[in-house]
Amino acid sequence: MRCLIVDDEPRLRRVLIRLLESEGFVCAEASSGLDALQELERAPAPLVISDLRMAEMDGVTLLREILTRWPETAVIVVTAVADVESAVACLQMGALDYVAKPFHLDEVRARVSQALDKRRLLIENRNYQHGLEARVEAQARRIEELFLEGVHALVHALEAKDAYTRGHSMRVANYSIGIARAMGLDKDEIETIALGAELHDVGKIGVSESVLHKAGKLSDAEYRHIMEHTVIGARILGPLMRDAPGALAIVRSHHERPDGTGSPDGLKGSAIPFEARLVSVADAFDAMTSVRSYRPSLSVQHAMRELEQGSGIQFDGDAVRAFQKAFTEHAALPIPTPQLQPLRLPRRAMEARRA
Ligand SMILES: [Fe+2]
Repeated sequence: MRCLIVDDEPRLRRVLIRLLESEGFVCAEASSGLDALQELERAPAPLVISDLRMAEMDGVTLLREILTRWPETAVIVVTAVADVESAVACLQMGALDYVAKPFHLDEVRARVSQALDKRRLLIENRNYQHGLEARVEAQARRIEELFLEGVHALVHALEAKDAYTRGHSMRVANYSIGIARAMGLDKDEIETIALGAELHDVGKIGVSESVLHKAGKLSDAEYRHIMEHTVIGARILGPLMRDAPGALAIVRSHHERPDGTGSPDGLKGSAIPFEARLVSVADAFDAMTSVRSYRPSLSVQHAMRELEQGSGIQFDGDAVRAFQKAFTEHAALPIPTPQLQPLRLPRRAMEARRA
């Protein structure tokens, strides 16, 4: 092991070097603080034994520099007998020990051995901490993956059951992202909206297939049954999505209407969660421009007109305007069905899970 001896008295350096070499150390020497720093820059040493009183740069300044730049170095300071105060100050700054002059060689040997033991423990402890943090981080990532895999399985299950929703969730997510961007929302809000939009109809898993696929007009009871998908979805996802309340609100409230005639809660205007008002516009546009079991698709112009006419009544006015701003190029509409993307949990929700 390398050791650096710093003292302005050549005789004292020689004594220490002889002692440490007999203990198997490879020694370098420096006659001042500045020399010592140059030597450490050339080749760091795990052990430094330094005098305190030296010209150019004293031992206290040297100690501070060493611990800032090479924090794993074990530093032992050599003090005059009368200078206990400086020794204590050095210990408080992070020196691992001190020896008072004149010293006994056995004492130096014992102090060196103790200081190196302390250093080893400190390094082991720090490595253990880092290892622990990495393991916790990996576990948190795995939990997040499991959550997203579970949620994705629900989306796949719904798409397998209902051909009409195939691609609907992803298109609604993409329209919603477009609206959210046009509204200038931040990345985290956009991720929340994308997640909620992709999951908004998951509750249809709990709706009877004969009603879901019925070609003719629905009876009132059948309509009410279909509309239960908002509550069913919120119930399925509720325990999984405690950390993403905005996304959960989309699932429950995307069929609310500003005029208060929507479902399931008949919320009015700004009482409807903002994210749900936004996704509701994307959902309606995609529903209108897609083929359904009970009707062919409407033209883009027709769907745009419906949004315009329903603005402030069925749809949030700001969200409709943002949709028009985001998708001015009607020729590019409706957007093609994208491939299922891996779902992402909003950053804030991930942090909440890790906390
Ligand atoms: Fe829906």
